[in-house]
Amino acid sequence: MRLIIADGYAEMCARGAEIFTDVLKKKPNAVLGLATGSTVIGVYDKLAETFESGAVSFGEARTVNLDEYVGASPDDPISYAYYMAEKLFDRTDIDKKNTHIPDGMAENLAAECARYDALLDALPRDVQLLGIGSDGHIGFNEPGSPFDGRTHVAALAASTVKDNSRLFGSIAEVPRRAVTMGISDILKAKRIVILACGANKAKAVYDMISGEISESCPASALRLHADVTALVDREAAGRLK
Ligand code: F6R
Repeated sequence: MRLIIADGYAEMCARGAEIFTDVLKKKPNAVLGLATGSTVIGVYDKLAETFESGAVSFGEARTVNLDEYVGASPDDPISYAYYMAEKLFDRTDIDKKNTHIPDGMAENLAAECARYDALLDALPRDVQLLGIGSDGHIGFNEPGSPFDGRTHVAALAASTVKDNSRLFGSIAEVPRRAVTMGISDILKAKRIVILACGANKAKAVYDMISGEISESCPASALRLHADVTALVDREAAGRLK
């Protein structure tokens, strides 16, 4: 794993966006694995800016997102489909039919997980963007998730519900379940870029990089992959030796 300690949030996001821009310049129809959450917003801002400058096009790109809340429809501002439209898709020339997010409204969630697995098999990711939970989760693969897991319905850990409540009116409004890509499919991406910022991520970053490779820190699975770049700010790197 390559570790880059960035000088602040803007630099961290600019470096993350640069990796995605380079991939797209070399391969305009690349498959981009995308994440949501607060940390990666700056990456999408930078990518939208780069698109506006004419330096890159998303016209042929395909995207596959990590996860979606169960019960969240694309027109609901809490959904990750809404987030993606607002933060990236509606700001670029990406063709919406080439964008894929699990369907949190599916009546049959087991069938939706199987559909998403087939999609992942058909669209191997050239690069995968990740954030990290304060408990070390990636996607919504919470501690204890198997490294060989595929798309499944995950129950959010109590700490994740608490972390995510900052984006909702109250803790009661935070969805408790999500459809998430499994760790085995995250590891199938050719290249992985994981971002972390802030002191509340310092323990997870330490466990990912220096702890035991174990299900107790899902992000530690990334050490089994040959091409991972971890972009962190000074606060998130605070516990590293
Ligand atoms: C989102 C996702 C999550 C987040 C993580 C960090 O698609 O899969 O793993 O990346 O919860 O979220 P923030 O950046 O909001 O702290």
